[in-house]
Amino acid sequence: MCGIVGAVAKRPIERLLIDGLKKLEYRGYDSAGIAVVDSERQLKRLRVAGKVRELEMVLNAERLQAYMGIAHTRWATHGAPSEQNAHPFVSHDKIALVHNGIIENHTILRKKLLNEGYTFVSETDTETAVHLIHYYFTQSNDLLKAIRAAINELEGAYALGIFSTDYPARIIGVRQGAPLVIGKGQGENFLASDPLALLSVTQQFIYLEDHDIADLTLDSVAIYDQAHQFVEREQHTLSINLDAVERGDYRHYMKKEIMEQPHAIRLCLEGRITKDHVLPALFGPQAETVLAQVEHIQLVACGTSYHAAMVARYWIESLAHIPCSVEVASEFRYRDIAPSKNSLFVTLSQSGETADTLAALRLAKRMDYLSTLVICNVPGSTMMREANLHFLTRAGVEIGVASTKSFTTQLVALLLFAITLCRKRGLNQQLEMKWVEQLEELPRFIQKVLQKDIVITEWAQFFTDKEHALFISRGALYPIALEGALKMKEISYIHAEGYSSGELKHGPLALVDNNMPVIATIPGDGLLEKNSSNLQEVRARGGRLFILTDQVEVFQQEAFADAHIMAMPAVHPLLAPILYTIPLQLLAYHVAILKGTDVDQPRNLAKSVTVE
Ligand code: M6R
Repeated sequence: MCGIVGAVAKRPIERLLIDGLKKLEYRGYDSAGIAVVDSERQLKRLRVAGKVRELEMVLNAERLQAYMGIAHTRWATHGAPSEQNAHPFVSHDKIALVHNGIIENHTILRKKLLNEGYTFVSETDTETAVHLIHYYFTQSNDLLKAIRAAINELEGAYALGIFSTDYPARIIGVRQGAPLVIGKGQGENFLASDPLALLSVTQQFIYLEDHDIADLTLDSVAIYDQAHQFVEREQHTLSINLDAVERGDYRHYMKKEIMEQPHAIRLCLEGRITKDHVLPALFGPQAETVLAQVEHIQLVACGTSYHAAMVARYWIESLAHIPCSVEVASEFRYRDIAPSKNSLFVTLSQSGETADTLAALRLAKRMDYLSTLVICNVPGSTMMREANLHFLTRAGVEIGVASTKSFTTQLVALLLFAITLCRKRGLNQQLEMKWVEQLEELPRFIQKVLQKDIVITEWAQFFTDKEHALFISRGALYPIALEGALKMKEISYIHAEGYSSGELKHGPLALVDNNMPVIATIPGDGLLEKNSSNLQEVRARGGRLFILTDQVEVFQQEAFADAHIMAMPAVHPLLAPILYTIPLQLLAYHVAILKGTDVDQPRNLAKSVTVE
């Protein structure tokens, strides 16, 4: 989604703003822009319908030098991706503004401002905000007052960065439902929608709360809450190694992140298990009492995180025998909910900022749930701050839009969660030891699968001319079929569907002919025979089979003579969903490479979906 960077400093800031935007590119965007106040106190604005490097070229040609400015990457919602619709927006060459989120009542505001004589040059909702601030500024000549009056009228979820040419060393940030963070420096201050954008200039961050307004000058950061009271917000030191955010020798972040999974899982497990058991209090000090009372689990998430939640349902119900429901956040928040008795509300989110999941969490906090837990990869994210209980997955920064290591670490976290629930209900120590041993071995198993990258590269060639693909499995691997299909859709743009193998004959079998690749993930569990019969049905209709299994011998028969089969390491059934995810990630990646798509920033998608 959109990205905001702002800076006020004693040194030139144009390059710093561009570097900040580059760090936000991974979030997905279609146009970029920058506005500064130059040495003659003139507002200068540059925008492009394209990439940050194009903006950089325009900037280089202009030879601008400025000490205060705001910059933006836009992911189009209202109005096509064009220079005209790109941020920053400007009113009367005096006020400049960048915006993330959506201003829902923009139509009414536009009418009001047209009546007041304002002219609109874009189709965006954002332009109403900048004119509205200007409108109030002409009345009070006080920037803070004007912003307060304007946001009083704005409806929706948004973050804003604003300056006026009247104050050449002052930027104002507003947070209302979309993330905004202040970066504190020595004699310079910054703001951004994501701390990653500022890591090269500071490690000191203040996360704004909803309704906060931050007034930044060279030497001060003043934060005011909804009641206009000055408030102190906690300052955090973020010590992310910048190298960890670089691509290194990899061609794409996605490949790097796939290959990092053994390490990410080790980090996720570190200090959380011993040789023979899962440590207590993994989910925070208050978890003890909450988990002892739990009678139902409600899991809510979006996209890949939703698939992790689906796997968790199999684990929680089979290990801990606690009833569990799973729902996509965008549905959960818009229906009437009747929470079960003593239900724990659990959200999963890589970013901790997904608008639908955050709204569902906030809704749950107002409802009759026992407590709320978030499993998340970003410390300091809004969900981490707002849920009662939290668990950090420690996958490390994930840049590729397609979630990979954040998904497998979510699964590890959920397995620890299921085991913890199980312990509360008198888990047999031998069994726990066996599970923990398997978990410890998981990175090594994943490494083995990663070594088969070459097999998957060969498989990928069969997909480049295909328009459709089916991913099938059963049991706890059914959500992995859904995830495999999502990865394929996201980055290769091939239409892919995930199905439970048992559902094939209830409809999708009609799609199968010799032009349809069918990818099956089949570990040697109790569903092996059922799965194998379903594959015979596919083969009988000419479907091209790609089978991932640890039971290769079962498929060494006439019916599967021309199937592509890759041997997987044999693992405990609990780990199979995690392990079988790896080849599906690699498959989507290699197909995308062959098709020449933008792997890390697929079209129309964003890393962190902060609008509804
Ligand atoms: O940050 P979140 O985990 O809340 O994001 C949810 C989805 O937007 C995300 O998983 C999306 O589906 C990924 N791009 C999938 O690869």
